[in-house]
Amino acid sequence: MPSSNVVKANLPGVVRQFGDLLESAPDAMVIVDGSGKIVLVNAQTERLFGYTREELLTHTVETLIPQRYRDRHIGHRGGYFEAPRTRGMGTGLELYGLRKDGSEFPVEISLSPFQTDHGTLVSSAIRDITERKQFEKALHEKNVELEKVNRAKDSFLAAMSHELRSPLNAIIGFTGTLLMRLPGPLTEEQAKQLEIVQSSARHLLSLINDMLDVARIESGKADLHFEAVEVGTVIDTVATALRPSAESKRLRLKAEITSDDLTLMTDRRALRQILNNLVGNAVKYTEKGSVHIRAWRKENGSIAIAVTDTGIGIKSEDRERLFEAFEQLDRSTTRRFEGVGLGLHLSRKLASLIRAELTVESEVGKGSTFTLTLPGK
Ligand SMILES: Nc1ncnc2c1ncn2[C@@H]1O[C@H](COP(=O)(O)OP(=O)(O)OP(=O)(O)O)[C@@H](O)[C@H]1O
Ligand SMILES: [Mg+2]
Repeated sequence: MPSSNVVKANLPGVVRQFGDLLESAPDAMVIVDGSGKIVLVNAQTERLFGYTREELLTHTVETLIPQRYRDRHIGHRGGYFEAPRTRGMGTGLELYGLRKDGSEFPVEISLSPFQTDHGTLVSSAIRDITERKQFEKALHEKNVELEKVNRAKDSFLAAMSHELRSPLNAIIGFTGTLLMRLPGPLTEEQAKQLEIVQSSARHLLSLINDMLDVARIESGKADLHFEAVEVGTVIDTVATALRPSAESKRLRLKAEITSDDLTLMTDRRALRQILNNLVGNAVKYTEKGSVHIRAWRKENGSIAIAVTDTGIGIKSEDRERLFEAFEQLDRSTTRRFEGVGLGLHLSRKLASLIRAELTVESEVGKGSTFTLTLPGK
């Protein structure tokens, strides 16, 4: 049982004054004099080290240190008393305390000197960090485990990417040759059904590609290739690819490039993919009117590409949510439109990889504008 009162015999006045204060400190407080002799301890010291106060006051502070550190500590203690200042002890080192029963425990110690009539004394605050160490160890083990899981995920992705794509490519390829009537003639109904097979397979392939892309970006595996890219040509490629689906909905698809030199260092594939998603959405979520792609250089030198549609629009409270994975706004919409809700999620991730920003403005029933702002060079 720790004795309740601080032993006050033979103590300089100043220490006696602080005795009660130390008593309530959460750390073990040990005050030593220049010869290493313990002159004052608090109750927490008794609890932590298993000695009674009376025992401690007949020892030097080295009693509380494992044997293997003692000699070195005596040297350090001498040095400290020559140039005392408030500081942590053994920064960066693992420090241990030694209990009366011979067991050790990890500690953190801070030292503060103070002057008394009897010379310099040093107070050390000693904290048992066993729990923290255990926590750090558990955290480290968890991290190692996570890394393992991550690696497994990566190789799973690489394998799946191949396993999923190969049969789909076969389906798309052979449907193509059937539709080209290479093996022989088709009835109109057969051709119609094969076209459905082909477009569904293409859709599935683009979905798988999106999912694999998201996984790759998330695991930091996206391989980017920065080169000089002319924004106008990328826009043309995207517009050309999506024009048929716009025209089949009787939408006008316009591309307008208003500045001369819109060349910057970026990843062409990422840029094309983002624009493809934005223009694809604009066409998908617009029943009537037009889809307008505009690119210009802003005053601050950055390049903006805006995709504006005259479609259903997006409520302001939904505007951030739609960048999350698998978010589709309206359930009834979901039934009407194909897709899984990965396009914008992927686009925003790709945008941040190429240091671009993707924002949206919209008015319900009037239309939306998605703007990609790219660094100017
Ligand atoms: N131009 C737009 N006009 C109105 N709503 C839009 C527009 N673009 C996106 N949205 C809304 O945001 C949701 C998320 O878009 P996102 O592109 O991520 O998914 P998706 O188009 O549904 O599916 P995916 O792109 O994976 O095929 C859409 O489901 C739609 O509700
Ligand atoms: Mg989409």
